[in-house]
This record gives sequence, C-alpha cells and structure tokens, in this order.
Amino acid sequence: MSATDVLRKVPLFSDLSEADLTGFAAVTREREYPKNSVILFEDDPGDSLYIVSSGQVKVVLIGEDGREVILSVLGDGDFFGEMALIDDEPRSAHVIAMRDSQLLVLRRDDFQMQVTGHPKIALKTAQGAGAAAAAGGREDRRPGAARRQRPRGAPAHGPRR
Ligand code: CMP
Repeated sequence: MSATDVLRKVPLFSDLSEADLTGFAAVTREREYPKNSVILFEDDPGDSLYIVSSGQVKVVLIGEDGREVILSVLGDGDFFGEMALIDDEPRSAHVIAMRDSQLLVLRRDDFQMQVTGHPKIALKTAQGAGAAAAAGGREDRRPGAARRQRPRGAPAHGPRR
C-alpha cells in the first residue's frame, strides 16, 4: 500500500484533499520494526511523528521495580511521538513493537511545513499530546517538581478516530 493510501485511512488526516494527502505522503518515510524491537526510548530527544500503517505497538514506562507499565496499545491508523514533536521535550515513554509493524515517519520540519494551512491536523495532534500528558505521559520537569504517578493502563488517546 502506498503512503498516500495509508494516510487516507488515518483519522488524523481525514479532512485532507487528495492533493494535500499527496503532499504529506511525499515527506513520510516507511520504516519496519520487527516484533519486540524498541521504536522510541523514553528520554531520547525526538523530532518525528509516527503513524502505524500496520501492526501493533505499545507505549510503556518501566516502573521503579523494573516492571513494565503499559500506557496504551496502538494499531493501524494510530499515531504517536506527537508530544516531543510539539513541546520539544525528550520522549515521554518507550514505544515497542508488539508485532512486526510498518510505520510512517514524519519529521518535525516536514510536519510543520505541511500542517500550515491545516489547523484541524494541528489541533488533533495537540489534543493527542494533551491527552497523553493528562494521563501521565509527560512528567513535570520543572525544578522541584515531583515525578508524577502515572495511572496504570490509562489510555491517553483513546480511539483516535
Ligand atoms: P513522545 O513523548 O514524543 O514519545 C512517546 C510517545 O508515547 C508520546 O509522544 C505519545 O505519543 C505516547 N504516549 C505517552 N504517554 C502516553 C499515554 N499515557 N497514553 C498513550 N500514549 C502515550
């Protein structure tokens, strides 16, 4: 399936014309991640947004006892990585492939350039980041702020459709 075909099915891009979809598709890159591979590491710098073309990924934090806490499981048409893209902070969680997964990757500069003139996409992306932050996906990094407890298993984005 071409990048345009994938994007056409993604709720985030549902309001785009064919020409605009083609514009976004032109600046995406396809990446394949085998099952169990780490796509993003918490605290790494991040400058890309990821869209799941196919497969399944999980957003996780590692608790102080070393146990994995799953914040969200994402599948076809879902996106992640928007928080670092928007606020320029390090990645708020690990993202790991639960199955062999194909992703589309959009770099910040390209995303920002394409999103100009599409306020709905900017808004939906920001809403995703806001929901993730509210569910504990972004710790408060201000000096003196305590690390916030994250609700176990609380999905931040819910169905993004
Ligand atoms: P970012 O911080 O760039 O990288 C990790 C991503 O995981 C983050 O963007 C969100 O897309 C996603 N994420 C973080 N916290 C949550 C959460 N609580 N629920 C769902 N997704 C999250």
